Amino acid sequence: MNSKSHLFFDHIVIGSGIAGLSCAIRLAESGNSVAIITKRAVDDCNTKYAQGGIACVIHDEDSFDNHVADTMRAGAYLCKEDVVRKIVEAGPQAVNELINIGAHFTTRGELGDEKHKDEFDLGKEGGHTKRRVLHSGDITGEEIERILVDACHKKNNISIFEEHIAIDLITSWRLGWIGDNHCLGVYVLDSLNNEIKTVCAYTTTVATGGAGKAYLYTSNPDVACGGGVAMCYRASCQIANMEFFQFHPTILHHPDVKSFLISEAVRGEGAVLKIKNRRGELVEFMDKYHEMKSLAPRDIVARAIDNELKRSGEKCVYLDIRHLGEETLRKRFPNIFEKCIEAGINMAHALIPVVPAAHYLCGGVKTDINGFTGIDGLYAIGEVACTGLHGANRLASNSLLEALVVAKFSTSNILDQFDKIKAGFPSGHIPEWSSGDATDSDELVVISHNWDEIRRSMWDYVGIVRTDKRLQRAKTRIKNIRREIERYYWDFLITRDLIELRDILSVAEIVIDSAMRRKESRGLHFNSDYPDRNPNMDYVDTIIQKPHAR
Ligand code: SIN
Repeated sequence: MNSKSHLFFDHIVIGSGIAGLSCAIRLAESGNSVAIITKRAVDDCNTKYAQGGIACVIHDEDSFDNHVADTMRAGAYLCKEDVVRKIVEAGPQAVNELINIGAHFTTRGELGDEKHKDEFDLGKEGGHTKRRVLHSGDITGEEIERILVDACHKKNNISIFEEHIAIDLITSWRLGWIGDNHCLGVYVLDSLNNEIKTVCAYTTTVATGGAGKAYLYTSNPDVACGGGVAMCYRASCQIANMEFFQFHPTILHHPDVKSFLISEAVRGEGAVLKIKNRRGELVEFMDKYHEMKSLAPRDIVARAIDNELKRSGEKCVYLDIRHLGEETLRKRFPNIFEKCIEAGINMAHALIPVVPAAHYLCGGVKTDINGFTGIDGLYAIGEVACTGLHGANRLASNSLLEALVVAKFSTSNILDQFDKIKAGFPSGHIPEWSSGDATDSDELVVISHNWDEIRRSMWDYVGIVRTDKRLQRAKTRIKNIRREIERYYWDFLITRDLIELRDILSVAEIVIDSAMRRKESRGLHFNSDYPDRNPNMDYVDTIIQKPHAR
């Protein structure tokens, strides 16, 4: 394995979704140099697959108070109200700034409403009491990613390292230096050239997104392995509320289509969930679970579907949106419509088969509202972070909002303090990555076997409905896998697959440990041994932290 000399930038951003790119653009506006480190192609990230949109108070009939109240209600007494309010109130301006650099959101005119043609069409999703989701058809994330990538390409002080995967953060304590702990950069594998680089900077922002790949079934793309959480954990950051993994209720159930989301906005436009009864008739069931029926918050819908599937033995439930008619469906959900057609389903005439799957990580690296992690020079923003906005359950479409707003807060904070950060940056020789006595392993098949086993254990035992026994079983299995990995090839081979395997292993362990500590049910964490919320645990975070590695 080659190791190359050091690269130095003012700022490193790891990850290239909405949080990472908007952060990089803002940092670059100061004239400072910025490196974006991204695992695959720059636009290969969770953001690109976000269909719903950005929740934002735009309409006169809506208010910040409403949006705060809906967010807090979904979050089940675990949101931080001051954080919620600041993010919600900063939304309209941050969205305007996105529009100013070229983002397009669907107007009512585009959907045929001539009377209000210049107004934005606002979608509605589970748990929202008002229409407030700005969207770009049903490819909102793709639209935002496109304009942010364009904006990055226009800045010559941004260097984008595609096909570069972060291995580990470099911190002064880890190097055995005395003084305050400071992040100095990151070791990175250039996976095309099989070369490890030492990339250093005054500030490092982790914006690596989610960890859906820790589960067997997920709406997330392959890159979502939780690398940011795993690296920050190893660097001894606090990791908060990882038991709150959000399962999206409606992923297309089809043998030939992997991980395709049927947006919650479809239910927002009136789609109703149905299941086949014993006579083969399709019947509604959400009225048994919540007064908002099919538009109930996501945790309730996912749990209801899980329960119905287990009870009936059916493989999927169905979404019925036939009442909207083909013309409207094609206009409002062009991408979903086409994808369903490819799968042989015309949603204007047929019901869409759906199942739940892992979707969004509500916990993550604990930060303040500026994304600061507590380690000098180290920030975490977007899905990888836990600011306190989502609490025990994220309100739909609040994630793009959080990523956008916290990226803005975080860059202002970094730039305001930049002179101080530079002055406090420790000096000393930063060693290159050392793989010990690394030789190539012939155990590649074991990597893929371990990978599958982790994901299946997480799905079977740490999924929508948990019990103490299931969690213990998962813990034992994952512990065995860790032992095997450490024994056979932890130090042998630095490949992208091995880095990702280590990442999902760490994420799985942290999710299990967090879930075991929470002896109650709240929001997304449902343990049938403790089916009720314990009010004594209101506003109490679960924190996991590795003892300081010095
Ligand atoms: C969706 O479109 O259903 C996903 C939106 C979200 O996860 O916020």
